[in-house]
Amino acid sequence: MARLVDKVAIVTGGGSGIGTATVRKFAVEGATVVATDIASDAGSAVVVEIGANAVFLRHDVTDESQWETVMKEAVDRFGKVDIVVNNAGIIGTGAPQDPENLSLDEMHAIGKVNVDGVLLGCKHAIMAMKDRGGAIVNLSSIAGIYATPGLVPYGASKGAVRQLTKSVAAYCGQRGYGIRCNSVHPGIVETPMGETVLNLLFDDPEQGREERRKQVPVGRLGRPEDIANAVCYLASDEASFVNGAELVVDGGQLIL
Ligand SMILES: NC(=O)c1ccc[n+]([C@@H]2O[C@H](COP(=O)([O-])OP(=O)(O)OC[C@H]3O[C@@H](n4cnc5c(N)ncnc54)[C@H](O)[C@@H]3O)[C@@H](O)[C@H]2O)c1
Repeated sequence: MARLVDKVAIVTGGGSGIGTATVRKFAVEGATVVATDIASDAGSAVVVEIGANAVFLRHDVTDESQWETVMKEAVDRFGKVDIVVNNAGIIGTGAPQDPENLSLDEMHAIGKVNVDGVLLGCKHAIMAMKDRGGAIVNLSSIAGIYATPGLVPYGASKGAVRQLTKSVAAYCGQRGYGIRCNSVHPGIVETPMGETVLNLLFDDPEQGREERRKQVPVGRLGRPEDIANAVCYLASDEASFVNGAELVVDGGQLIL
């Protein structure tokens, strides 16, 4: 039995990496998926590959009026929204992120997408789902839990996502909305962003990949599908008693 039958899901950042893997996984599990992204060509290509059960909408998660449009489109086309995955995120603009050299511009650029975008996603998910219940899954990172000396603004943004997830879960519980909200914390995953992280952290990215791989008890870096599987679990009714939780999906890196 597919796990998301009759569910309507919105996945932000669906045009790349973990978002694309999540759109594919949700479709396989029976959901109707609204994939959104600022990258129109990549996002459109993903839904074409899936067929009738997915649509793409261009959507900048930092723009509240675009959230209103996305929610309205989803409800107009499919009658409801059951799941919102706040996946869109950036690692940075390439400017320094160590605490001596970072700029407030960089802090704000990262916070705008990674924090404002997720906050808006939670706000509009609550408004769309509060009468029927639903699930919100927010992409944080292990960078939101442990120290990231070379990526201070990115780590801070992911720490904010970890915390706001719990507050949203508690708020929805207080109001009796039947909305669960959980965060997922990947280690390094083989996506365009994962590649950028290796380039930022190591002078020799290939050597860095090897070093990182050795730090992971399961002996490899993450695949987008590893994270999509975790997102799917949290979005599904199998996780109906999982709320305000942080699911670390890092092959065991954090336990060492
Ligand atoms: N890849 C990793 O190693 C890793 C590790 C931990 C957490 N994460 C988190 O997982 C999520 C997905 O990461 P990924 O590796 O798939 O990244 P990615 O760079 O491959 O994809 C991110 C997608 O988000 C979209 N996006 C960026 N800004 C946007 C905006 N303002 N509005 C809408 N869409 C926007 C991009 O166009 C892109 O398609 C991110 O939140 C990231 O921080 C990734």
